[in-house]
Amino acid sequence: MKILAIETSCDETAVAVGEDTNILSSMVSSQVPIHKKYGGVVPEIAARHHLKNIIPLLRSALDEAKVTLMDIDVIGVTQGPGLVGALLIGISLAKSIAYTLNIPLVGVNHLQGHIYANFIDNPDLTPPLLALVVSGGHTELVYQSDWGKFEVMGSTRDDAAGEAFDKVSRLLNLGYPGGPAIQEAAKRGKPDAIPFPRPLLDKGFDFSFSGLKTSVLYYTRAHRDYNSSDVAASFQEAIVDVLIAKTIKAAKAKRVRRVVLAGGVAANERLRQKLKKALLKEDFALYLPSLALCIDNAAMIERVAYEKALKNEFASLDMNAVSNLDLASQHMVGEKTR
Ligand code: KG4
Ligand code: ZN
Repeated sequence: MKILAIETSCDETAVAVGEDTNILSSMVSSQVPIHKKYGGVVPEIAARHHLKNIIPLLRSALDEAKVTLMDIDVIGVTQGPGLVGALLIGISLAKSIAYTLNIPLVGVNHLQGHIYANFIDNPDLTPPLLALVVSGGHTELVYQSDWGKFEVMGSTRDDAAGEAFDKVSRLLNLGYPGGPAIQEAAKRGKPDAIPFPRPLLDKGFDFSFSGLKTSVLYYTRAHRDYNSSDVAASFQEAIVDVLIAKTIKAAKAKRVRRVVLAGGVAANERLRQKLKKALLKEDFALYLPSLALCIDNAAMIERVAYEKALKNEFASLDMNAVSNLDLASQHMVGEKTR
């Protein structure tokens, strides 16, 4: 089964072509340089650039995979969560191709895509597993009991982990996107220099990072000559500690042995190293996606679309973008079986 996959949920335009679980091409055009000067993603500008980039990217993805549109059997596209204007560019293209060539359409949940990036890198990996999904918009502990079956055990009550990285980076004037900027600054600082709080550490599976961000703000106000590398390293350590403690607690609660990391923040070196060490000590197996599959991409959308196509979980042509699409209810949104 040859699948064309499209992802435009935020600021990366991405197109991939795959044959079953084999990725033949995966193209990503990042808008980071465009949004950098605004210090964050501007939804309207993101949508306009998706529109500009998507057709050339589609051409290169098909060329690289050595196929034409006539060879495609199924189209997978991100339905949500994400920015509605941005999502609609990918969805409109996917629907047009599906309608014109009369091929089935699959709507894909972006967060499921992030989790499934791990199945691309580790073909032998199977559920049940626990996923820590950490991105610019989400921080979720997800129990995947089986293929396509998810339970969100905990999520953020305010800022997402990536959002906290981005906001603290702006506060410290370290640049955008904040995650990589904080990570680099932190390498020159001491993680135990400032004892920032570890919010909700002992309470359930939910996260809260806005208080931590405020602590950083108060610290920088109280210490005008602060060392930004020490602040970055101490902030990163606080976030990483909370993410790790809750992940271990959730994995134990579900008695799973396999833990996967997913989303843009999964690229964080400190998180990867510390989580690996902590899970090894507890005898869990940790799966980390390669860096190219941590950031938004369409290969992960292809992997989900393949599974849903096998189960005949196709969408109708009136499928719409759903900005807050959640993992548990995704199969009920605009879906029909052909
Ligand atoms: O998954 P993603 O590419 O987009 C969303 O779906 O949101 O995640 C983007 C987020 C941004 O907040 C960015 O700062 C963060 O991932 N990020 C990182 C790192 N690389 C990207 N956070 C921490 N450390 C990194 N190395
Ligand atoms: Zn993402």
